[in-house]
Amino acid sequence: MLTNAHLKYESQKLGMNYFRVAIVLFGAQLLLGLVAAIQFIWPGFLFEVLDFNVARMIHINALVVWMVFAMLGAVYYMLPDETGEEVVGAGIGKLAFWVLTAAVTVVVLVYIFIQVGPGKESTIWLINEGREYIEAPRWADIGIVVVVLIFYWNVFATYMKGRRTGIMTVLVADLLALAGLYLAGMFFTDNISMDQYWWWWVIHLWVEATWEVFVGALAAYGLIKILGAKREIVEMWLWIEVLMLFGSGILGLGHHYFWIGTPEYWWEIGALFSALEPVPLVAMFVHVLYDWGKEQGHKEAKALEGEEVHAVNNTPAMGWIALNAFGNFLGAGIWGFFHTLPQVNIYTHGTQFTAAHGHLAFFGAYATILIGMMYLGVQGASGVKKMTMTFKSKMAITLITFGVLGMTVALTIAGYEQVLVERADLGGGWDAYFIAQNLTWMTQAMGWRLAMGVVTFVGFVYLLWDLLTIGKVEADQ
Ligand code: HEM
Ligand code: HEM
Ligand SMILES: [Fe+2]
Repeated sequence: MLTNAHLKYESQKLGMNYFRVAIVLFGAQLLLGLVAAIQFIWPGFLFEVLDFNVARMIHINALVVWMVFAMLGAVYYMLPDETGEEVVGAGIGKLAFWVLTAAVTVVVLVYIFIQVGPGKESTIWLINEGREYIEAPRWADIGIVVVVLIFYWNVFATYMKGRRTGIMTVLVADLLALAGLYLAGMFFTDNISMDQYWWWWVIHLWVEATWEVFVGALAAYGLIKILGAKREIVEMWLWIEVLMLFGSGILGLGHHYFWIGTPEYWWEIGALFSALEPVPLVAMFVHVLYDWGKEQGHKEAKALEGEEVHAVNNTPAMGWIALNAFGNFLGAGIWGFFHTLPQVNIYTHGTQFTAAHGHLAFFGAYATILIGMMYLGVQGASGVKKMTMTFKSKMAITLITFGVLGMTVALTIAGYEQVLVERADLGGGWDAYFIAQNLTWMTQAMGWRLAMGVVTFVGFVYLLWDLLTIGKVEADQ
């Protein structure tokens, strides 16, 4: 992780820099999650030092930001492979990286140092915009737009100059939509319904449309790179997935418009299209596992005939990408489908069930494949031809997966209790909320969430250690 020794392209070196910041932010995300989880059990913990709302905010902002960093890293890393060219404008691309990293650091320091105070117009500009997941103040928003424009120009100009593969075409179109949507989260209206309406354009249309398409492109690239899968087949799948993801995800947005004061026709639109969202996730699941199995079959047949075969050349990356296929389907597809119909959502809305889905979906759909890309980066940077799982790689993937699944189960149980007691039985009022919060099912679940969070964190330590050492160990052999 610390070397770029075997990378020819500036683009890939820049990609590695993005990965390095991403992994640090991932660690920070988990630490802040642990603080928030402790505060659920002992509310006085770090009171007036690092309050729950701030710990929670940094937890989820760091989540989004590390993922964005890892996504930019992945694009810069794959760009020369796909286009056959060095990135156009490497110098300004590097400058943008440092500007973005410095801005993120300042934003987080301000979050930590200014935790309370009046909410004025200047607060929105300088401290915190107050929109969950994208709380960065407006000065940083504008900076982000500038950096993203530079990034997009890097990608687009390189694409126009080099080979235009299907994967790159999908990425170039998708990144434009992804970046454009960020603008919807920058306008302020003092009508909370309108504010939420636009805010969901960013949150939902990111994770359930543009980010998913992005992941499809990464998986396609990964399968070609790791398995030597046939490009025509992988790209054919990719186009089908793009069609289905946009077909269901865009109007699936309606599942957030059930109870915020938008017209009632959103019940039907949201129910129908969001119920279709798991379909492309099944396709992505089948795609990865089918291609993997098929390649293995080909190889065995070829090996029997004494031909040379292209073996899996990076088992940690392949492990995380295969986990992505399962995790995306489970976290987004199944846990998402559970609460997506208005008839169900009226009971589950905003309970710990939502948090269960949020954790498993973000982890399964995004953390996994981005970690896989980091392993691909480390492989290239350290010049290892065939990278195999070490003991640390195995501990990392096992403990992190077990930990996140454990947290998900605990939160699902807590959510179930809220649905039955707080909502169905007691009618969902203020008192009902507090009664439900203090029942044993809830308090025990919060204890388990913390325990499983610690397991996740230990897994992260193994992951970091592995990423730092695996290139070196393998290159020495
Ligand atoms: C990878 C994709 C996905 C991610 C990362 C994700 C993440 C999240 C997160 C973090 C929330 C909570 C937002 C908040 O703070 O209020 C949420 C809410 C929700 N998600 Fe997803 N989601 C994904 C896919 C899906 C899919 C495919 C479905 C449906 C089939 C779905 C259905 C829902 C619903 C209905 C809510 C609203 C919950 C409520 O009313 O409280 N999600 N999602
Ligand atoms: C050390 C492990 C972790 C712990 C202890 C932890 C703990 C927490 C806590 C206490 C909250 C606030 C919940 C609330 O307000 O009720 C939260 C929110 C959240 N966390 Fe984590 N977390 C951890 C890891 C992760 C990971 C790995 C991801 C995703 C990859 C993640 C994604 C989220 C999301 C999306 C939310 C907002 C959920 C919502 O509002 O529905 N967390 N987490
Ligand atoms: Fe959604």
